[in-house]
Amino acid sequence: MDDILVARNIQKSYGAVQALKSADLRVKRGEVHAVCGDNGAGKSTLIKIISGVEQHDGGELLLKETPTRFTDPQMALKAGIATIHQDLGLAPRMAIYQNIFMGAELEYRKLGIKMLDKNQMIAESKLYLAQINSDLSDMTTIVQNLSGGQRQAVAISRALRWNADIIIMDEPTAALGVRETEQVLQLIKKLKENGVTVILISHDMSDVVNIADHVTILQSGKTHISRSTAELTAQELSALIMQR
Ligand SMILES: Nc1ncnc2c1ncn2[C@@H]1O[C@H](COP(=O)(O)OP(=O)(O)OP(=O)(O)O)[C@@H](O)[C@H]1O
Ligand SMILES: [Mg+2]
Repeated sequence: MDDILVARNIQKSYGAVQALKSADLRVKRGEVHAVCGDNGAGKSTLIKIISGVEQHDGGELLLKETPTRFTDPQMALKAGIATIHQDLGLAPRMAIYQNIFMGAELEYRKLGIKMLDKNQMIAESKLYLAQINSDLSDMTTIVQNLSGGQRQAVAISRALRWNADIIIMDEPTAALGVRETEQVLQLIKKLKENGVTVILISHDMSDVVNIADHVTILQSGKTHISRSTAELTAQELSALIMQR
């Protein structure tokens, strides 16, 4: 089967608030799958369940056909699901390579003492960035000196470093200008070319119809529509999201 991730009838409450009543999501291997919906529809909650930040109360989650429940984000990461949150989770004062290897630094031993393998981390960082056609060449550049699109490339490289085969991106273009948005869309295209499955949460209808293969629309905690984006315009997509 080519479904890499399936969520069925997912339910999640926060106290009296039922954030998800019945969410379904079926993601095919290698596709760019957008998740859309109005504010409060349950997009972030669904993504939190898939990425191990929260756990569902009901329904089931299948990863590569295996029933799965992630108890923490590390567990999802090990299973191949990396999530890039809107704040990107980068350390702005640290270098590109340090961010890419954050929490998984490469080491070597010299006279029995563990040392950080800076040269190897720099070399591998270059390879990850080259995979997504990034223009960054000096891996010691401090992240706070990068543009929004370049930062997104660093965050994606970190996900690749974890061998993620599913990358979830929460509003990756929300804070970006036109040129940077275009860069990020190119990064997503490149990931797809490399066989990575991308789940994209976005409020930008034109980004969704341009880049996604499929869209799932949530409404008040339920899956309202799941369809291909072929021949779908941004206006039609907005209308489907607003439809009651
Ligand atoms: N930790 C929480 N505690 C209580 N209620 C929550 C919590 N997280 C989300 N909710 C509620 O659950 C519902 C779904 O929220 P969620 O953040 O998943 O929506 P969303 O689709 O991501 O919205 P947005 O587009 O505004 O980001 C909302 O009514 C929200 O107020
Ligand atoms: Mg949200």
